[in-house]
Amino acid sequence: MDLGLKDKVAIVTGGSSGIGFATAGLLLGEGAKVAICARGEERLDTAFLQLQAEFAGAEVMAQPCDVLDEKQVAALVKAVKERWGGIDILVNNAGRGRQTTFMETTDAAWREELNLKFFSLIYPIRAVYPVMKERGGGRIININAVLSRQPEAHMVATSAARSGVLNLTKSLSTEFAPDNILVNSVNIGTVKSGQWKARFEKYSQGGGSLNEDEWQRGEAAKRGIPLGRMGEPDEVAHAIVFLASAGASYITGASIDVAGGTGRYI
Ligand SMILES: NC(=O)c1ccc[n+]([C@@H]2O[C@H](COP(=O)([O-])OP(=O)(O)OC[C@H]3O[C@@H](n4cnc5c(N)ncnc54)[C@H](OP(=O)(O)O)[C@@H]3O)[C@@H](O)[C@H]2O)c1
Repeated sequence: MDLGLKDKVAIVTGGSSGIGFATAGLLLGEGAKVAICARGEERLDTAFLQLQAEFAGAEVMAQPCDVLDEKQVAALVKAVKERWGGIDILVNNAGRGRQTTFMETTDAAWREELNLKFFSLIYPIRAVYPVMKERGGGRIININAVLSRQPEAHMVATSAARSGVLNLTKSLSTEFAPDNILVNSVNIGTVKSGQWKARFEKYSQGGGSLNEDEWQRGEAAKRGIPLGRMGEPDEVAHAIVFLASAGASYITGASIDVAGGTGRYI
């Protein structure tokens, strides 16, 4: 099936690892031109070289960028536009979650979490909007979580912030519809990626005796995931790529759960 992504230009934030890296690979495989960004230069370089090697002849670029720094985001958008003439797709994926209850969450932690969840979208969207408008349309895909609709007490700040971002996605889909810029959300459950590797390392360093696979299956069971396992980054990336594709031309303001059946709401 032709997804209509050949020569489309995409920016994937947080593209050096996990879901972002998998998304960049799928987009390149469809013939899109892809720019990835992240803060850590070493991991970004490794990801860039891996993508270049896997998709020989594909157009890929990597630029260090903290999505919470508006100047760095503007520089990234400018560089992509100068290189490829425009931007069609923005995948707002950079970020991480925070595991704290309400009483554990300090003012500073609240501010940091709200800042991360909102401004990791606000700066890239503000920068790409005029470029997409000039191009006659575009796709913005915000990576969110099931937590946005089903909060978890042990991730109180992340849950609250994610709800706000879901709300923002809906507002943007209305505001940008006349410009043919479609804005959607992919809500994740529990996906095996960098964040979970880091949590496993913490568990091991704390004396945990399970291997990574056993630990991940245990975490999936604790969360009562109906499909009985964590998701793979690729399984999320496929939904992102669909929302970026020609076939999703009448979908905006939607949120799609890619969460193995978690999200016990109607
Ligand atoms: N995995 C899950 O179970 C899960 C569940 C719900 C939601 N999510 C969300 O899905 C997204 C992807 O997560 P993942 O699991 O694939 O995580 P991951 O493997 O840890 O990748 C996160 C990526 O984001 C980058 N990043 C983080 N902060 C950034 C910043 N300020 N500016 C630019 N890049 C930044 C990281 O690189 P640097 O650190 O080098 O910048 C890395 O490339 C995140 O927003 C996460 O919160 C994940």
